[in-house]
Amino acid sequence: MLLLVLLHVAILLMSDISSKDLPAHVAIIMDGNGRWANRQGLPRIEGHRRGAEAVRRTIKAAYDVGIHCLTLYAFSVENWNRPKDEIDGLMRLLEQFLEENTQQVHKMKARFRVVGRYQELPASIQEKLQYLEAETAHHTEHSLALALNYGSRTEIVDAVTALADDVRKGRIDPNSIDYPCIRSYLYTDDLLDPDLVIRTSGECRLSNFLLLQSAYAEIHISDVLWPDFSSEHLQAALDDYASRERRYGKTGEQVSMPQI
Ligand code: FPP
Repeated sequence: MLLLVLLHVAILLMSDISSKDLPAHVAIIMDGNGRWANRQGLPRIEGHRRGAEAVRRTIKAAYDVGIHCLTLYAFSVENWNRPKDEIDGLMRLLEQFLEENTQQVHKMKARFRVVGRYQELPASIQEKLQYLEAETAHHTEHSLALALNYGSRTEIVDAVTALADDVRKGRIDPNSIDYPCIRSYLYTDDLLDPDLVIRTSGECRLSNFLLLQSAYAEIHISDVLWPDFSSEHLQAALDDYASRERRYGKTGEQVSMPQI
């Protein structure tokens, strides 16, 4: 009996430690679908189809470990430069994903968000995105965001344009502009900043993804190609995150010693 009680206490202590070290917001640059397909001798779209399965798995895995907010980079503004048949295939997969996962998002009590210029996406996809956003707007426990037709530079252009318009109309005093004010014009105004950015396929760059929001994010590069990404790879990224010391410009001594 005593052993059981001790075991229970140990588990509680361990779960407290892991939740303390768990990132609240994980953002993922899902890369390597094309290379995965090439290696299998398959068309690129098959890599994206398997990538969509990895998306479903990862949403569940992140939810299961208690991640509060997950953002997935699914289509960048630069991705319009790909061959038309690949873009059409990606849009079909996206539409299918939205049709098939509404219930899952509800079940997770997740609020769904799109970040990006979604008004430039096909009308049928816009309708499904708006529907899912409206249907899940009341959830507060989790957030699931898809970055679609997203690029940080475009986001900054849109934010500055809207801010300049508000200054011109007298709604904002230009002398009062600070970072929280600029942040409120970003697509992600109602999301936490990412604590951890994961990029798959071994590439070590941010590719115009959440550049301002990731100012203090920890970055984990996983060598695995996105279609092969599993809950074990997510756990490896979380373990890596837990081993980091986040200093936000302070010294190591300052962050490890309680401030009086
Ligand atoms: C990068 O791989 C991936 C993309 C450009 C698109 C991501 C899309 C998915 C994961 C599937 C569909 C998404 C949803 C939400 C259903 P890449 O094609 O650039 O790979 P490569 O660098 O190996 O060519």
